[in-house]
Amino acid sequence: MSEPILTAWLNGQFMPLEGAVVHIEDRGFQFADGVYEVVACVDGRFLDLDAHLARLERSCAAIRIELPLSRDALAALVRQIYERNPFSRAMIYIQITRGAGPRSHYPATSLSPTMVMTSRALPQPTSERVAQGYRAITRPDIRWKHCEIKSIALLASIMGKQEAHDAEVDETFWLDECGHVLEGCSTNTFAVIDGTLVTHPLDHQVLGGITRDLVLRLAGQHGLTVVERPWSLSEGVSECMLSSTTNAVMPVCYIDGQAIADGKPGSTTLQLRQWLIAAMESPET
Ligand SMILES: Cc1ncc(COP(=O)(O)O)c(C=O)c1O
Repeated sequence: MSEPILTAWLNGQFMPLEGAVVHIEDRGFQFADGVYEVVACVDGRFLDLDAHLARLERSCAAIRIELPLSRDALAALVRQIYERNPFSRAMIYIQITRGAGPRSHYPATSLSPTMVMTSRALPQPTSERVAQGYRAITRPDIRWKHCEIKSIALLASIMGKQEAHDAEVDETFWLDECGHVLEGCSTNTFAVIDGTLVTHPLDHQVLGGITRDLVLRLAGQHGLTVVERPWSLSEGVSECMLSSTTNAVMPVCYIDGQAIADGKPGSTTLQLRQWLIAAMESPET
């Protein structure tokens, strides 16, 4: 069977993904001067699309790029890119760079932003994978001091993922200088400690994950005790989990080769995963 032709959106036009190319002097290519978003869609229903577009606008504002389109126009485009591609469970990727211009660190103010959208299949872990849980390693955080911006400059995260791959685990968790778990390379992290769901507070050291927000909202709605505070693995962690648009919530059962509790996914984690999946599949967008 031949591969389906995928459609991308580039600077105002839908086109075959194969032919969608950007100028070699684009500042995204030369300087990683840009930001991005990933939004999930299941059977035509987007999960927290407004929140993703609001974060995109905040990321753009933080690096002084004007959003090329209104949020409403962006939302309409996101829906179109979904409809023009063959995935019922999709992840829509949106990237905005400052645009193309003669190479200079200081950006000319006259540049027009480059905007790209693609749609790909949303990964779905098997039930065996969920039952087994993920494994992670920890490393000192080597990233910059504006992790709240969803920047396309992801070199540290790529190195973290390479280390995870070498260690045959799924994710690297970044630790601050005191050994607190901040987040993963592409995920937020949570622990259950003394029956309380704990996650690092929002600051410059973590990305404000849209899934993280949803996890906290759902936990609160269902009466779980939630605390946003720095936490470390030495605190008697009974469950650990990670969250992201592409993972929903996944249990993390081994960290640095040590089992968390009995090395099996915890009941709070599995419950949160279920609530999250129900939210993704509910008619609300
Ligand atoms: C560093 C980092 N933290 C957290 C997340 C999870 O964010 P979200 O739930 O919005 O996908 C991501 C997603 O790419 C990320 O890159």
